[in-house]
Amino acid sequence: MIEIKEYRIMNKLRVLLINLFSRIHRTSVLKTSELDFIIPPEIKDDEFYSAIMNLAEKEEIQTVLEIGSSSGNGSTEAFVNGLVKNPCSPHLYCLEISSPRFNALQKRYKNVSFITCYNFSSVPIDKFPSEGEVAYFYKSVPSALNKYPLERVLSWLKQDIEYIEKSKVPTQGIQKIKKDNNIQQFDMVLIDGSEFTGREELNEIYGAKIILLDDINGFKNYHSYQRLSVDPNYVLIQENWKIRNGYAIYKRKSSFA
Ligand SMILES: C[S@@+](CC[C@H](N)C(=O)[O-])C[C@H]1O[C@@H](n2cnc3c(N)ncnc32)[C@H](O)[C@@H]1O
Repeated sequence: MIEIKEYRIMNKLRVLLINLFSRIHRTSVLKTSELDFIIPPEIKDDEFYSAIMNLAEKEEIQTVLEIGSSSGNGSTEAFVNGLVKNPCSPHLYCLEISSPRFNALQKRYKNVSFITCYNFSSVPIDKFPSEGEVAYFYKSVPSALNKYPLERVLSWLKQDIEYIEKSKVPTQGIQKIKKDNNIQQFDMVLIDGSEFTGREELNEIYGAKIILLDDINGFKNYHSYQRLSVDPNYVLIQENWKIRNGYAIYKRKSSFA
């Protein structure tokens, strides 16, 4: 009787160990990235969402670019709710790097004729900052990033770069959209993609009539906020540093020098 009981316990232990080892093996072989998962919407039912919706409805605009659409139920939804009522019939171009998020985005808006989605990285790897630059920012500019250890912040940078390398997603998405659609200058742009590429994305869309920045209290759009704040061609029309990691909206003056 005791022998049978011992045998059962040993057997259970054996199964447990096999499961444990195979799980460890799986995670080390198939190392996943956060970009392999769908995430909840971020700009959702708050004052930035309302501002996006109002501008998308009321401004005289034709071409809108959203960098970092995720699966489409945050800022994209705000754009769509406004654009559908805009008498100028503007077109929305969405950029999303993550494959599962992009697939959900495409599916969600497949029947909306004024949206085109691109599964591209906005910019290539050589436009990402170095680890040293991010570490310098982390230590010298107090921001929302200081809530996390520097190692964690740097692991996000590595993760974003690795995703481009491993997934082989095409890059230079902003240039691709401009070229495909013969666009010299977008009318309205939201910069809300990778934490590390806002500054480079701003370079590529500079001159747009309306520029919306999310996460101004982080690496993503801190530099863009500063650059626009000293440009006499732009005026700050709305900002709030207290909502999530802060947002700001800049509008170009009619005469652009
Ligand atoms: C903060 S989330 C966007 C949230 C979204 N705007 C919302 O309101 O829910 C940033 C998104 O940018 C995407 N992303 C990250 N790096 C990117 C890149 N290089 N090019 C395009 N999209 C990128 C991420 O996959 C993620 O879905």
